[in-house]
Amino acid sequence: MGRVPADPYVRRMTLTTTTAAAVSLRGVSRTYGAGPAAVRAVDGVDLAFAPGTWTAVMGPSGSGKSTLLNCAAGLEQVDSGQVLLGDVDLARASEAELTALRRTRIGMVFQSFNLIGSLTAEQNVALPLKLAGRRPPRADVLGVLAAVGLGDRARHRPRELSGGQQQRVAIARAMVTRPDVLFADEPTGALDSTAARTVLDLMRSMADQGQTIVMVTHDPAAAARADAVVFLRDGRVADRLTGPDARTVADRLVELEH
Ligand SMILES: Nc1ncnc2c1ncn2[C@@H]1O[C@H](COP(=O)(O)OP(=O)(O)O)[C@@H](O)[C@H]1O
Ligand SMILES: [Mg+2]
Repeated sequence: MGRVPADPYVRRMTLTTTTAAAVSLRGVSRTYGAGPAAVRAVDGVDLAFAPGTWTAVMGPSGSGKSTLLNCAAGLEQVDSGQVLLGDVDLARASEAELTALRRTRIGMVFQSFNLIGSLTAEQNVALPLKLAGRRPPRADVLGVLAAVGLGDRARHRPRELSGGQQQRVAIARAMVTRPDVLFADEPTGALDSTAARTVLDLMRSMADQGQTIVMVTHDPAAAARADAVVFLRDGRVADRLTGPDARTVADRLVELEH
């Protein structure tokens, strides 16, 4: 009998080598502007994110992290290459199909939470279902809020919640449609370290339950909670780590900035 690797990331990679990636990018490029002013924000990136893995994306400011995330989430078009969500090619999807995919199979979380201030936590979480033309079952909405530890905050408005709680509402809103992948762009960037920890704990348990997460971060301690780290420089994959620890991540980041 073969040995089962102790490291959960390695184990998952072993088990999923024959399974389709949750998301894959093949030769993806994205340029802004034209002529001499053109900026190639993402430059021929190949990446595959296995189901149930949490990957951190790091790199200097302007290295293309947000552009890469937005291309992977179908929020931005690629100039060339393929973005596959499971076996669906986002570049070949129509605008209507893309909108439907983004509403049902992709969850997005941003640094600034982007909650609607006039709506309660419960109403914010229900919004993606309403936008998808579904009548949100209250039990589902409250269930997702409970899952992020905010079962008793359903009627609170964003200003009545701490930053960490607001970000957990945003994660609940991203998860209510049960997306295949959660994309997060610096989700802890606006949080103090205690609030950041509650959000990272939540993401860790989601990944352990099989959710695929791709998270941009500047923070080596946050990246160390993920299963793997991808480092970008000038729009290209410059390095990768699996089973990261904060010290190694910080050292690699310093090397990249030089
Ligand atoms: N909408 C845009 N128009 C023009 N240039 C952009 C736009 N968005 C990003 N860029 C440029 O693309 C590069 C990568 O940006 P970005 O993906 O935001 O990097 P990061 O998230 O790593 O800081 C940068 O040089 C940035 O100035
Ligand atoms: Mg960015």
